[in-house]
Amino acid sequence: MKVAIASDHAGYFLKEKVKDFLRRDGHEVVDVGCHAAVSVDYPEYGFKAIEKLLKKEVERAILICGTGIGMSIIANRFPGVRAALCLNPFLAKMARLHNDANVLVMGGRIIADGLAEEIVKTFLSTPFEGGRHQRRLELIESLAQKIKT
Ligand code: RB5
Repeated sequence: MKVAIASDHAGYFLKEKVKDFLRRDGHEVVDVGCHAAVSVDYPEYGFKAIEKLLKKEVERAILICGTGIGMSIIANRFPGVRAALCLNPFLAKMARLHNDANVLVMGGRIIADGLAEEIVKTFLSTPFEGGRHQRRLELIESLAQKIKT
């Protein structure tokens, strides 16, 4: 699978680990930065990955900041993005089964490398269940159209 990956300085080291095991598992990784653990602004890098996803240059995106919260906030500002902050493989599984999440978010300061690997594997290998969950996703998109800020 082709996956865009982005982090800020607080997610940089986990991003490098995630890149390694994605490549080892045969995925194609598009790293949009950052490229060093030097202080940067997470919205800038989150946006670069989201742009690739929305232009269909990649199938999924993985975003990593310190907590995962900032990256979740920026990602979910864009229609068509369903970003899920996952702390464990169960959340990653449910984010795919029920929410058809297309962006995985993790916190570089709260997730160990081994756990991150399990989360990523689960996220990339679990299908969407569809059915009533599809209806709910469509409802989210239509409700979002009602208020333009
Ligand atoms: C950076 O210090 C930190 O604020 C950022 O990585 C992230 O956790 C924000 O939500």
